Parts: sequence; structure tokens; C-alpha cells
Amino acid sequence: MKFQVDQGKAENYACELLLLFSFDSSEEWEGSIRLIDTKWKGFLSNLMKQKDFKGELYECQLLYTQGALPAKRILLTGLGKREDFDLEKWRGASAKAGKFIRDSGIQKFAFPVKTFGVFPEDELAEAFVTGLLLGVYQFNELKTLDRDKIKEIEEGVLLGETPEDTKRIENGIKTGRIISESVCMARDLVNGPSNQVTPAILAQRAEKISKEHGMELQVLEVSQAEAMGMGAFVAVAKGSEEPAKFIILDHHKGKGFDTIALVGKGITFDSGGISLKPSEGMDRMKDDMSGAAAVLGIMEAAARLQLPLHLVGIIPATENLPSGKAYKPGDVLKTLSGQTVEVISTDAEGRLVLCDALSYSLRYQPKAILDLATLTGACVVALGDYVTGLMGKDEALIKRVEEASAKSGEKVWRLPLWDEYSDYLKSDTADFRNVGTRAAGAIIGGIFLSKFVEKIPWVHLDIAGPSNIEKEKPYTPRGGTGVGVRLVVQMLRDWVKGS
Ligand code: BES
Ligand code: ZN
Ligand code: ZN
Repeated sequence: MKFQVDQGKAENYACELLLLFSFDSSEEWEGSIRLIDTKWKGFLSNLMKQKDFKGELYECQLLYTQGALPAKRILLTGLGKREDFDLEKWRGASAKAGKFIRDSGIQKFAFPVKTFGVFPEDELAEAFVTGLLLGVYQFNELKTLDRDKIKEIEEGVLLGETPEDTKRIENGIKTGRIISESVCMARDLVNGPSNQVTPAILAQRAEKISKEHGMELQVLEVSQAEAMGMGAFVAVAKGSEEPAKFIILDHHKGKGFDTIALVGKGITFDSGGISLKPSEGMDRMKDDMSGAAAVLGIMEAAARLQLPLHLVGIIPATENLPSGKAYKPGDVLKTLSGQTVEVISTDAEGRLVLCDALSYSLRYQPKAILDLATLTGACVVALGDYVTGLMGKDEALIKRVEEASAKSGEKVWRLPLWDEYSDYLKSDTADFRNVGTRAAGAIIGGIFLSKFVEKIPWVHLDIAGPSNIEKEKPYTPRGGTGVGVRLVVQMLRDWVKGS
């Protein structure tokens, strides 16, 4: 879908469809909607008076102007109460309008950005484009039947009134497009099945990104990882015939910018290994590389946004399968850190591949490490599928993530990593076990990882809940969500502004 910017007045603008937004009272109307109402002899305010359109959040009403205006149709979309309005609702309303337009088979629309003066034009345009592109996302590349029924919007024109407006709108569109395309790339990888999205394919995607943006790429084979001492990553990879890859993407190496390491769990299929999962719902475990997909999305977005940061993306990618060669409960593994781990469950494989990746990240001496991982079912039980579990001990870094969460609308909720929890990981034969009891499962995952980051500020994002959703949300269709990309990109943008 294309976005264009034009300068003009909505009431004089000829188009297939003019998109207008309204709070739940016409008293609140400003700018274009008020001028159009006047030109249309109070038609819109009459609708409100008669309660045919109430302006409730996400309500959509299509109108035919019958020559009263140069625009052929008007789509009114509700924003609800003005006092409850924020950018998150705005992204949702933009998505709802986009889906309504797409499903009506209308291919072009225009939207006057100055319909209400709550946010500056660039922020409004960015959130509009983000909400709309994320809302109309569909994953249908693997469907061969009825392809002619797939509907898509061709073009949206964002109208500004002055040259300054249009400049700000253009900037907003550009940023919104970069971020949402990066999220959609991550969604495609998550939605892709494990016979297509293999560790080698993740490495290929990393290569594409590295070539397009001049990043340095290293892809370690299992033999190299073994030679380096990554005993935990290698153990998980042993049960699979699909070659595992340890991927390192390095952006802005040697430029003197702050270094931030991003580590993403890249289990392209998690059967549980010898501690096999029940078969019901196992198909979902193709999404166990959502952290890896997010890291690729973040790297791509950061490069396109030209953020002055040295970013290192680290992705341990492998399948977790049972076989005659697979690692087993009771095995003791020597990790890259030198610490040893007793495997209690081969299904707690995420923390094993991640611990070596976290240790590896330390060689960059980063200012911060963030890991993103579909780590525990316990986090889904605790927080549901709306919220990412946020864990860490560095208050300043936690605060940065919480602030980015409020801005991006990607919800996070903190779980504690108190020292007492370490007792659950005591082992008779090794330094740690890889699981505790059933208690505090998400936290124990975080505690385990904390043993591998030394003193570097680090946060762990358990995205097991929001990475893949059953029921759509206003701008997030069912399936892989690309969660983490917008959150971390926002944090990185703020980091650049603040430093
Ligand atoms: N990939 C799973 C976690 C998961 C579960 C993600 C549900 C998304 C939805 C992870 O590898 C796993 O199996 N974790 C175990 C840990 C346990 C053995 C301590 C779990 O959650 O049961
Ligand atoms: Zn598992
Ligand atoms: Zn897993």
C-alpha cells in the first residue's frame, strides 16, 4: 500500500473516500469535519443528533455524499470520549478504518490529518500509518485458492493544509512505514511454518538485512559453536537434523556509538525434545522463534531509521527435537560462561540457547543487553496474551523499557528477580538445574538467565503470551504479532534522544 501527501482542504478535495474521525460529541469537532459539516448543511451533526452515528470508539459509518462534496464517500470513524483519547486508541481507530475500507473493496482514500488538534501532525501521521498498516496485515502467501478474493487498499493520501504540515506528515509517514514494515517482517517469520522458517532461513534473512544496511554478519555452524565452548546451545541442537545457526548481526561496528546487545530466542520448532510436549497445540511451537524475529525486525528498523547506535543482534537458532542423538534429562552441560547446568527438562531449552548467547554478548561490553524470548508457559498463565513479562535488576534500564511501553502501547509488566528465587535452581550435580519446581515459572526463567549477564544492565522480555494471539486486537490480527519490535525500537529512539 502506498501513502502520498498532498496539500489541500478536505472540503474541496475530490476522492473516492474521505476518511474523517469523530469524538462522541460534535461539540468536539474541529478543522475539516466541522467545515465539511457546514458545507454539507449540517448533515453530519444531524446524524449525531439522531444517534445514527454516536462516535463510539471504533464505530464505522460509510456515507455517500451524492454530489454535496467533491469526495464521493465519507467514512466516519469513532474515537470515543475525548478525555480518554490517546495514541494507542488512535492506532486502533486507524486500523479499524483501514480494515473497513479494505473490506468494502475501496482502493483509494484521503485523510485530512488536521481533524483534531490533540497531537502534532508527525505523531498523528506516524501512529495512523502504523495502526493502519499493522491492522490490515494478512498472512496469505501460502494460500493458493481464491487469491482473486484477497482485498488490498492501493493508496492513502494524507492531506495537510500548509507546506509545514505536509513536511511533518511526510516524516510521520516515513517513520510509521519503517516501523510497521519491520513488525510485519517479524510477523511473516512467526507465521511461517517450521518447515519453511528454519535456522538457515533466519540466517538468510539476517544476511539480507546485513547486505542492505552494511552490517557485519557472522553465522556460526554448530561445530564452530562447539569449538567456542557453547555447550548449552550445542546440546539443544543435537536432536535435530536441520542445521542450527548461531547468528550475529553487527550494526555500526567501530563508530563509537553506545553498544546495545539484542538477544532473541530462535527455536524454529519446540517439540520439547525428549521431555516431549503433549501433541495438542504443539503446532503453535513454530512460533518459538518470535524473539529472533523481533531482533531481526528491530535491527532492520533501527538501520532504516538511521539510529546512531552500535547494535549487536544475537540469535541462537535451532530446532528442539527428540532423537537418538538428542540431549537428555540428567545431562550436565558446560556453558560458554564456564558454569555447568543440569538438564531437568529438555523442554526448558530456551534458557539454554539464550545463556550461551547472553555470555557471547558480553564480549561487546554493551551498555545494555535486552533479550526477547517465548520462554515460559507460566508467563502466559500469569499475564495472559496482552502483556510481556519484564524482568531485570537494573532500575534505569527497566524504566526505559516501561516508558517505551507506555508510548508504543506494547504492554509490559514487571516480575521480580529477588535473590531468594535462586534456591529453586540448586542442583546436586552441577552449578544450576535448568528448571525449578512448578512455582514462579516465568521468574525462574529470568533468574536462570540472570546468572549469565554478569554486571551488565540487562532486561529479559518473556513474550510467550503476546507473540501469537488467538483473538485479534484493534491493530493486531490473529497469529504472529511481531511483539517487541515497536517496544524496543521506541526505547532505542528515546535512548538516542536522551544521550
Ligand atoms: N517455548 C516454550 C514456552 C512457551 C509455552 C511459549 C507456551 C509459548 C507458549 C518453552 O520452551 C517451554 O517449553 N517452557 C517450559 C518450561 C518448563 C519446562 C520449566 C514451559 O513453559 O512449560
Ligand atoms: Zn520448550
Ligand atoms: Zn521453547
